[in-house]
Amino acid sequence: MTWDDIDWSILDRLRGTFLSGTPTGGPYWQSPEDLANYDFTYGERIGWKWDQVLRELRLRGWRPQGRTVLDWGCGSGIAGRRVIAALGAESFDALTLWDHSPVACDYAADAARHAFPRLSVHQATPGYFSGTERIGLLLLSHVLNELPAAARDELRLLCVRADAILWVEPGTHDVSRQLGGFREQLRGSGFRVIAPCTHENECPMFALGRERDWCHFFAPPPAEIFADSNWVKFGHRAGIDLRSLPYAFLALDRHQAPAVPPVSDPRGVELATLDPNAPEAAAVRAEAAAAGSEHPGGAAGSALAPEDLSRVIGRVEHFKPYARLLNCDATGLNELELPKRADPALFKQLERTKAPLVYRWRREGKRILGGSPLAG
Ligand SMILES: C[S@@+](CC[C@H](N)C(=O)[O-])C[C@H]1O[C@@H](n2cnc3c(N)ncnc32)[C@H](O)[C@@H]1O
Repeated sequence: MTWDDIDWSILDRLRGTFLSGTPTGGPYWQSPEDLANYDFTYGERIGWKWDQVLRELRLRGWRPQGRTVLDWGCGSGIAGRRVIAALGAESFDALTLWDHSPVACDYAADAARHAFPRLSVHQATPGYFSGTERIGLLLLSHVLNELPAAARDELRLLCVRADAILWVEPGTHDVSRQLGGFREQLRGSGFRVIAPCTHENECPMFALGRERDWCHFFAPPPAEIFADSNWVKFGHRAGIDLRSLPYAFLALDRHQAPAVPPVSDPRGVELATLDPNAPEAAAVRAEAAAAGSEHPGGAAGSALAPEDLSRVIGRVEHFKPYARLLNCDATGLNELELPKRADPALFKQLERTKAPLVYRWRREGKRILGGSPLAG
């Protein structure tokens, strides 16, 4: 596919579908051409988000242990291809693809076979879903918006079969907070949180008073697209600001690691989680225990996420004398300020860096005095 082959009418129709932002009545992919056009444009943008997530996972020194991958809700299969290309096809034995659209499954399988000729590529069968076979790495990308309640429940049960989960969603308030709800439930069922969090505590986005906040980040699109008239045309027609690529994500695994005790919120702020005691959450925990989870019923600590690391949420705002940011760490969410004169080099770095914003600060209360990025 090249820009000369693009069918703008297909992209316009898909845009209408995505904009509706609610569970769809059923599969909407009409032909392989739909998927080819999506993959080249919308899918490529999603690929840039995955690239940034994979950068962060490298920084955190994490890679999955399992050799099998399931890309659920695969669409054109961009998530599976990005992850396998980044981690090396030799790291995996098999890729399974699933989408309720058979056209999408076929397209994604063909594309994956083309990209990784030695990899065993399959489409999931009903037997796969009713079975108990472990899933080495479960990939989920931009699916939450489209799932009715029943499909979410199925997804929760599938998560329980996974040894690791990488999940990328749009960085909107609503979807990010839904993803946070999954974090809370999975954290209580034997998964440790690899990223974006630098701690294992309850997500502070669910603390009382934080209803307007949401966990999201911005990925850098490749610089050359801004001078590319085709991408500019796509941005106009799709109503997308190409400079802004907000995303939310979650990386979880069941790796055994020395436990770091959860830190309680020193301000005594009540953390209202997304109902971890709901019957469905209990069912997930019970399944995890039955599946031989390494940490049933409790959060394992992350050796990769020392408690003194911080993750910056959203963007750093720069003003003349200081920079301001929303910081998440083991003590919760805090608005911090870095006076420019405290560390001019750090101030400039925060303005320019495209890297995921994982830092170790030197702080005095809410003032940052200095700090260094996680170097990987
Ligand atoms: C926005 S697309 C994302 C596709 C792909 N994961 C990506 O990131 O590019 C959402 C995908 O979820 C699929 N989907 C929606 N509801 C589903 C369900 N109940 N079961 C399986 N797939 C579903 C759609 O067919 C579509 O391919």
